[in-house]
Amino acid sequence: MKNLLSIEKLSREDIGQFLADASVIKKERGHPPTQPLAGQVWALIFSKSSTRTRVSFEVGVREFGGKVMFLNAGEIQLGRGEPIKDTARVLGRMIHGAVIRTFAQSDVEEFARYSGIPTINALTDQEHPCQILSDIFTCQEKRGPIRGKVVAFLGDGACNVANSWIFAAAKLGFELRIASPAAFQPSAELVRRAGGKIVVTADIQSAAAGADVLYTDVWVSMGKEAEAAGRLTALAGYQINRALVKLAKPDALVMHCLPAYRGKEIDEETFEANAQTIFDQAENRLHVQKAVLKWAVA
Ligand code: CP
Ligand code: NVA
Repeated sequence: MKNLLSIEKLSREDIGQFLADASVIKKERGHPPTQPLAGQVWALIFSKSSTRTRVSFEVGVREFGGKVMFLNAGEIQLGRGEPIKDTARVLGRMIHGAVIRTFAQSDVEEFARYSGIPTINALTDQEHPCQILSDIFTCQEKRGPIRGKVVAFLGDGACNVANSWIFAAAKLGFELRIASPAAFQPSAELVRRAGGKIVVTADIQSAAAGADVLYTDVWVSMGKEAEAAGRLTALAGYQINRALVKLAKPDALVMHCLPAYRGKEIDEETFEANAQTIFDQAENRLHVQKAVLKWAVA
């Protein structure tokens, strides 16, 4: 029984196993040799909106022989103030695993501690581990090992997706450049804790120059809606567009975790020119998360 709570706490061996297993699981889709979740019931407990994460986990659990229930956190007693540790102890006696999307990282950790069942972080304010595992899988599918490559993350460099990229960089040996205005850069403490080769800059052109991957995420993450106007103004110069793509390697991948806001973090033309990669990324959530589910119950 294992938990996937963050990239920070994950070993490089486990990451390697997910990437290798996902490739086999993708090929075996429709005729899996085993059903690792047969006889199990998993709950998805979400406090924030989701399309990709919700659907890919619901499909993944079912394809591996399990049953799944979706719990909107606001509609169970948790939403009326029942403590996480009590919710966790109840669910731990009834279900076999939980996939949680919420705000505080400490809430997912508390659930895992008290429930005693495999718990997977489906996005917190701190990290989005399943997203980054799928993104790295997609990079490797298209361009080979990520070790030694240069990934440029452009935009809100202090968001959950950027944080997970930061923790992945040292573990997998690639260079990560984060280009954001000062107020949206990751904390120096977090970058130091992660180790590895990480460049943080306000200069988007230098970050993109010669990069193998240009990556972006929304400028207004879930929970930050009250800051929307200020964020859109501050981040306006940090868009992926045709001019920026010209600075990267000629075969650079342009990636986006989705949902995408055209005209904000990426322009329509660049998004559509790279739609194949971006929707492969989305599809790969399913295959990679099935590898995570298999590992969690082993
Ligand atoms: N990328 C991602 O996690 O998408 P959803 O918010 O739709 O799950
Ligand atoms: N940073 C974004 C990711 C969405 C998948 C958010 O938290 O809203």
